[in-house]
Amino acid sequence: MSCKHDKMSSTGTITINGKEFEVGSEVSATSRLVNFLHDNQLQGTHITCYQGGCGACTVVASVPDGDTGTKRTYSINSCLVPTRACVGWEITTVEDLGNKYDGYHPIQQALTEHSGTQCGYCSPGMVMNMYGLTQENPSWGPEDVEKSLDGNMCRCTGYRPILAAFKSVAVQDIEDAEKAKCPSTGKACKGCCKSKKAAAAAKEEGMKEEEESKQVVPRSIQLKDSNWHQPSSLQELYDLLSGFPDGTNHTFVSGNTGQAIYSDGPFTEYINTRHIAQLSNVTPTAGSIVFGANVSISRVISELDSVTATLSGFTYVPELVDMWTRLGNTPIRNLGSWVGNLAMKVAHPEFPSDLFVGLVGVGATVTTATPDGTTTQHTMEELLGLDLVGERRFIIDLGIPTLPDDAVFKTYKVMPRTTNSKADVNAAFKFRVDTTNAYTVLDPPVMAYGGINPSFVRATATETYLTGKSLQDEAVLQAAYTSLASEVVPDAQYQDASPEYRLALAQNLFYRAVLSIVGTAASPPVTSGAEPLQRPLSSGQQTYDNNTEQYPLGAAIPKIEAPIQVSGEAEYITKIPSRPGELVGMFVTATQGNAAIVSIDPSPALAIPGVVDFVSAGDIPGENDIMDMADPGTQLLFATDRAMYHGQPLGLILATNRGAAYAGKAAVQVTYGDIQTPVLTIDQALQNPLPPGQPDSLVLGDIQAGFAASTHIIEGAMRRDGQYHFHMETQTTLAYPTDTGLDVFSSTQWLSETQRSISKVTGLKSSEVNVSCKRLGGAFGAKIDQCNIVSAATALAALKTRRPVRVQLDLSENMTIIGWREPYLNTYKIGVDDAGILQAVQSTLIADSGYVGVDVSSPAAAIFLMGCYKCPNWEITPQYILTNTACNTWTRTPGMLEGVTFMEDMMDHVAIQLGMDPLELRQKNFIPDGATRMISKDIIRIKSRCRASDVKFLPDEVTIPRNLLPDMITHFFTTADVEQRKAAVTQFNQENKWKKRGMSVMPMLFPYLVPSIYPLPVLVSVNVGDGTITITHGGAECGQGLNTKVAQVAAYELGVALDTITFATNNTHNSANNQTTGGSLGSAFCCHNVSEACKLIKARVNPDNLDWKTAVQTAYSNGVDVSQRYVNGVDELVSYPVYGVGCSEVELDILTGQFIVQRTDLLEDAGRSMSPLVDVGQVEGGFVMGQGLFTSEHPIYDPTTGQRLSDGTWLYKHPYAKDIPVDFRVELLHDTPNPTGVLNSKISQEPPVCLSFSVVMALRQAVTSARQDAGTTGWFQMDTPLTTDRLQRLCLVDPSRLTLA
Ligand SMILES: Cc1cc2nc3c(=O)[nH]c(=O)nc-3n(C[C@H](O)[C@H](O)[C@H](O)COP(=O)(O)OP(=O)(O)OC[C@H]3O[C@@H](n4cnc5c(N)ncnc54)[C@H](O)[C@@H]3O)c2cc1C
Ligand code: FES
Ligand code: FES
Repeated sequence: MSCKHDKMSSTGTITINGKEFEVGSEVSATSRLVNFLHDNQLQGTHITCYQGGCGACTVVASVPDGDTGTKRTYSINSCLVPTRACVGWEITTVEDLGNKYDGYHPIQQALTEHSGTQCGYCSPGMVMNMYGLTQENPSWGPEDVEKSLDGNMCRCTGYRPILAAFKSVAVQDIEDAEKAKCPSTGKACKGCCKSKKAAAAAKEEGMKEEEESKQVVPRSIQLKDSNWHQPSSLQELYDLLSGFPDGTNHTFVSGNTGQAIYSDGPFTEYINTRHIAQLSNVTPTAGSIVFGANVSISRVISELDSVTATLSGFTYVPELVDMWTRLGNTPIRNLGSWVGNLAMKVAHPEFPSDLFVGLVGVGATVTTATPDGTTTQHTMEELLGLDLVGERRFIIDLGIPTLPDDAVFKTYKVMPRTTNSKADVNAAFKFRVDTTNAYTVLDPPVMAYGGINPSFVRATATETYLTGKSLQDEAVLQAAYTSLASEVVPDAQYQDASPEYRLALAQNLFYRAVLSIVGTAASPPVTSGAEPLQRPLSSGQQTYDNNTEQYPLGAAIPKIEAPIQVSGEAEYITKIPSRPGELVGMFVTATQGNAAIVSIDPSPALAIPGVVDFVSAGDIPGENDIMDMADPGTQLLFATDRAMYHGQPLGLILATNRGAAYAGKAAVQVTYGDIQTPVLTIDQALQNPLPPGQPDSLVLGDIQAGFAASTHIIEGAMRRDGQYHFHMETQTTLAYPTDTGLDVFSSTQWLSETQRSISKVTGLKSSEVNVSCKRLGGAFGAKIDQCNIVSAATALAALKTRRPVRVQLDLSENMTIIGWREPYLNTYKIGVDDAGILQAVQSTLIADSGYVGVDVSSPAAAIFLMGCYKCPNWEITPQYILTNTACNTWTRTPGMLEGVTFMEDMMDHVAIQLGMDPLELRQKNFIPDGATRMISKDIIRIKSRCRASDVKFLPDEVTIPRNLLPDMITHFFTTADVEQRKAAVTQFNQENKWKKRGMSVMPMLFPYLVPSIYPLPVLVSVNVGDGTITITHGGAECGQGLNTKVAQVAAYELGVALDTITFATNNTHNSANNQTTGGSLGSAFCCHNVSEACKLIKARVNPDNLDWKTAVQTAYSNGVDVSQRYVNGVDELVSYPVYGVGCSEVELDILTGQFIVQRTDLLEDAGRSMSPLVDVGQVEGGFVMGQGLFTSEHPIYDPTTGQRLSDGTWLYKHPYAKDIPVDFRVELLHDTPNPTGVLNSKISQEPPVCLSFSVVMALRQAVTSARQDAGTTGWFQMDTPLTTDRLQRLCLVDPSRLTLA
């Protein structure tokens, strides 16, 4: 840790958690604050994306304002702000709020108590975001909480409990916490200060030192590879700029957030402009407000907000504010400046800047200066034409003008989710109209658009056309749409929404503006198009039995790890401190998706200082194959002859630091030959023969006889794209040689397979490889076997170099090297009779396995397809195809989700074809009580990782003793008020043309399949000194609450308090030969095995009449072993059905394709829940993950190289807090113990993901209504994800229908 008085290389100080830290000249210009925190042992702040898009790294900064000197305090992304820029700032990290020693902060307590953590990787960032809000806005309310969390991602919880937690924090709670802080240390008061006077003196001393340190900040600092400048006046800046020799590569640093989008650089001269006081000014003048270049976007918004109330000419401001509060996210707006945003637009004109479009709309101007101090004022359009970099031109200020009060100003931002996304299209319109004369346009209007193409700013031809015309004249409107169609020409970029959609948006948004101008002059049904959707404040309800009679089993308790998660104390593999001599490993990956590898030359990389070695296929002493038990097939660790996908690992660069590793990775020279167009989709792959080894079809009855007996035959198809797991802890491994082999810390869901994989690659004996993992920062299946790409490569590198090696994938590496959820195509033919009774179901389920078919889920899809329905004749053919993409892999509910949801899509098709109510059709076809459900051997084999010879142990079918669905639906009709809401939806759709609603009810039968052989060993160790218990097991705690349930079971069985129990790190030596934690099997098996182990201990210890500690000590002194290992044997656990019902109601904006899930009700069967809060969390989180899959999460590829373009938070759109159902109600089925489940429970991790399909079903209804208005009825294929682009185009909005009538 740098210490205050170590001034050797000091170039300034940062105050972190009340302590000063020197920033030496060794800290590079590109070092980010989070790196500095980690280097100084402050590991509580996490990292996922390095892109400002996940919020894991959020800290709170108190930043002195250049003009007033006062400090503003707010949340920022520590992954973006340069360390050097923080000199003079005060930073608060999660460590400062609370911990297990000093107690927890009210925000941390609230998150714990509301069960707002699962894997906990997002939690410190969430806490700091909320803390930032309380510091910035001392009277925040629930709306502010929702707004503030607009960029903090949580993949596990579904956000509802996080929002509930933070909304519960009262202003008084924070004030009390602040009061309780020691005035000298800033930490929780321990009463150690001798007197308040001493504390005050210490504080004064601290302020004096801070003042001193401020004065020694040098203007220019020479760093290793660059210079860092921090001029304090404009003159100093001009001198600096004019003194640079020609060709100097310089950049200005304001918030540095721009690097997350365009990683320009590296530069030799970095100029931090924040020390120029006058650039922080905000000056209201007669005709405008002038903002200095240092003013952040958040401050622009708040200053604009306040002037509206006091100055005239700014009545239009709420429109600007509305658009700009949807720019990026809260920490980005806090850190990022308006000037950086505009400079990015100048450098990258394709950037759909919200700021720029709004400023064009109001006619704002900027002032720039050249290095000789000459200043010039420009319009926004003129700014775009400047060569800012070449001329070393500097933007000084921005003038936002007044507008006449009768000007109508409208802004729109259409984006693929509710918050934190670039716009597909944004627009700003300014009109002055004569309201007394048919809304005739008085002056030339402004119609500015972003997101069209790099050179498009204004629809000038349409502006000219409209001048003097009446907006009430339908012919004028039609001509305006035609004019727009000819001048708005969206470019076709793979990463952008389709050109057709963007043109439609340009026309529709103009129409929207007209509707809002003409108001009641338009007919009532079309006025629903006048405003974008307004999302109300969200809320939730959770209903469950709090089973207290077996306390603590069945009690609704928060996760036991929650306190250490919310404080950043929880240990993950990423946080294991570095070891002496540790090397950084970074994958060198293929840049062609389908090409021969001619040569790989690492020599240029090895010449880079800090690069130590390069490991590739030739270094493998064992086999170049990471798969062992996973059957069938081989998966290469490193490609040898051919690059099968863009991103495939070719080798691993090893370096002493991350910078050198990046440089080394880029320097390795790879030559390719025989470059072929990559096959990227199922349709393309089907042009070739299917790969060998296809799974067997599942055949029941006689399909042809079934079709013959049918009076209606319905055929169709549905495609569903893949999904990135988005575990927030990226794949990580640390490996180092020991005197007995290798110690490996791997973020794995399957310790033993990782051990075997490493053994296979390195040639070491299994006993020489010890793989450990304490917990995972999310996994969702990605860490079952594909983690072994990282683990085996790291282990191999450690063995070769005989040094510790750590590989922690960057988000973009994780998203490209590792496969995702498989894309699917279902083609089907269904036969029904006139009453809608199923006679025959034929389906071909094709999974895209990526480049190798090792993790194929379509056999599971086949068995799950039958779902809750009875049909005498089934022929379900699971298939897989190969594409030039990463090896797709298990993802929460793999195959099962596809089976259940494709069947629901098919049932919708039948209902529409027959003109029946979709729910009535479903109910008619429900499976009866006592029926059996066929189970494919293939799927069981996959789930148990058994070899083919083991199949004889497996059951053939599960029994459905009683189908609970009819009762659940009856219950649901009351609790979810289905009938009344359905009627309201119908009426709404009749009355509104441009907003449509839909409501669905989806039943689910999820046959939870348990393999006969599935060992998950547990070890319950009782410490005789005090009776405390340490548990290790073969499972993986990845957020699903495995440890909490296990602790509840152990405490119940042994009759001890929960806090008697702790968990130690799991490893392959103490739980050898464990199975994977996946398929909802991990928690169930660990709980069962712990229960059995505890029963055996109890039988030996016999605690009756003795307190536990005395009983243990007595037994021990009598020679009794008080600890126990237990592994389940064959068929100890059995399969059973899990039931669920979901109902979602949506509202769709037909003009833009954006939608809101207004309400979702989920009724889930968890048996007698072992841990209701954990189960509710699984239901909510699973649903929201599924909603993302089916709507916004959209993989994008470059079809020429096969590069996955959606490889970060900028282009990949997972849900945030404002995407979840506005009213989110979850109920666990009351009093339904499951006699065949572990302690009467049922599993809850995977089934609820399926229920998210209710959103798709509801959207179908909304789209159907829109299509009916367009004159089209009947079935239509709805491939998912239902992006805004797809949804809007499905609604068949033709400009001819954009009328006022
Ligand atoms: C996660 C994320 C989401 C975002 N979402 C949106 C969005 O939805 N809509 C949107 O419009 N934007 C969005 N942005 C962009 C964001 O607004 C900009 O990154 C931010 O405003 C840049 O400001 P900065 O102070 O960080 O600039 P910096 O990153 O410090 O600088 C950016 C560029 O500006 C130049 N520059 C800085 N100051 C000057 C100056 N005075 N004169 C000349 N050049 C200068 C720098 O040299 C650099 O090239 C998003 C960004 C992120 C990271
Ligand atoms: S790591 Fe900083 S926002 Fe994701
Ligand atoms: S708990 Fe939020 S990401 Fe896991």
